[in-house]
Amino acid sequence: MIQETQDQHITTEVSVPSKVNNVPPALEVSGISKAFSHRRRETSVLDNVSLTVEQQEFVSIIGPSGCGKSTLFHIIGGLVKPDVGVIKMNGNTVTGQRGKISYMPQQPALFPWRTIEDNVLLGSELKGAANDLAREAARHWLEKVGLGGFERAYPHMLSGGMQQRAAFLRALLAPQELMLLDEPFSALDALTRSEMQSWLLKLWEENRRSVLFITHNIEEALLLSGSIYVFSGRPGSILHKIEVPFPRPRREEIADSPEFLKLKRQLSEWMREEQAKSRTPLA
Ligand SMILES: Nc1ncnc2c1ncn2[C@@H]1O[C@H](COP(=O)(O)OP(=O)(O)OP(=O)(O)O)[C@@H](O)[C@H]1O
Ligand SMILES: [Mg+2]
Repeated sequence: MIQETQDQHITTEVSVPSKVNNVPPALEVSGISKAFSHRRRETSVLDNVSLTVEQQEFVSIIGPSGCGKSTLFHIIGGLVKPDVGVIKMNGNTVTGQRGKISYMPQQPALFPWRTIEDNVLLGSELKGAANDLAREAARHWLEKVGLGGFERAYPHMLSGGMQQRAAFLRALLAPQELMLLDEPFSALDALTRSEMQSWLLKLWEENRRSVLFITHNIEEALLLSGSIYVFSGRPGSILHKIEVPFPRPRREEIADSPEFLKLKRQLSEWMREEQAKSRTPLA
């Protein structure tokens, strides 16, 4: 296993981001650390995290539960202030600023008083762009993700998986270029999840956006991403970055290739190691 780390696609050091054609990256996270204090006890959650999403790149984060992945998204989205570090988008410092990203939170927070269609249109509405065209696009996509006929329904009338699909569409249709997706498919059954992955892959390849994607599913990360950051257990820091070598357009069949299986094995091993470290021994 160890020699697999010698693989040309796997780097154990995180390299300094390169700039594509001198265009600054869509997102640069530099030296972010964060601790929360609760009842006078301080818990360090993120430790010196730096990562880059180049323009129109699909980047995933995997790491043990509780290692600070969602907290990092809250920091990028300006909802939580980092103790140290800087967030840049398109070369501009935006640390602590809201409204710059399209974001799907881990718990799909649909507004209960808005219909599904109006929830999906929220991003456009906040940007003052909820016109007939946006409404038409929303209907088209609702149909595509199997929510046709539910445009006028309210969130409580939908299953968990259906709510997740609506929340995903809301992020997709928001006008901001950089999309942060926090485990967008975790509430879906295996078949729907696989369908949504294929659909997202095709959609992203046809119409590239800059995406930062959190998942616990290693195959999902390998299928969709250009690169993957592996986080340590809490406090989360970056242990490895791998470049995913499969050419695009990709299809699900790559999951059967020896190269895919090798990367999957390596990532699973890293995850197992981290999970084992973060487990406290029984007294
Ligand atoms: N607002 C907060 N106040 C205090 N502690 C917090 C706050 N937000 C997160 N935490 C703590 O930070 C740690 C990391 O939480 P976070 O939700 O970022 O983990 P995660 O990597 O997304 O986990 P999971 O994979 O389970 O979603 C946890 O111990 C959590 O209790
Ligand atoms: Mg989380």
